[in-house]
Amino acid sequence: MEFMIPKSLKLEHEELHTELVEATKAGGQVAEAARVVAKALHPHFIKEEEYALPPLGLLPALAEGRVPPGMADFLRMTNRLKVNLGQMLQEHQVILAALGNLADAAKKENQMAYVRFTEKLTQHAQTEEEVLYPAAILIGEYLKLKGSK
Ligand SMILES: [Fe+2]
Ligand SMILES: [Fe+2]
Repeated sequence: MEFMIPKSLKLEHEELHTELVEATKAGGQVAEAARVVAKALHPHFIKEEEYALPPLGLLPALAEGRVPPGMADFLRMTNRLKVNLGQMLQEHQVILAALGNLADAAKKENQMAYVRFTEKLTQHAQTEEEVLYPAAILIGEYLKLKGSK
C-alpha cells in the first residue's frame, strides 16, 4: 500500500513497545506492573495500527490537495475508528491506571528510567486523544465530502 502509518508514529510505537518489554524483564514489582501494562497495551496497539494510524499517512497528500485513488480502504478504517472511539478511549483509561501502578513500583524500586517511560506513554495516549484520533476521523469526513462531489 502506498500510504501507510507515518514512520514517526510507527517508530514511536516500536520504541514504547521495546521499553515496555525491557520493563517486564526488570524483575520485582516493576516487572509485575509492566506485565499488566503490556497485557492492556498490546491488543490496543494492534488495533491502532490496523485502523487508527494508517489514515494519517494520507495527510501530506491531502494537504497538497490530492485525493489519491483507492480511498475506500481508508474510509473503512476511519469509520471503524469512529465507531470504536469510545472503546479506544476506555482502553486508554485502563492503560493509564496500569501505568500509574508501574510508576509507583518504579519509584519504589528507584528505577527512574521506567518512571520516565510511564510519562512518555501517558503523553502518547494524550496526543492520540487530542490530535491523532480526531485527525484520522476528520480524514474520513473529508474523504466522504470529496467522494460525494
Ligand atoms: Fe498508540
Ligand atoms: Fe492509544
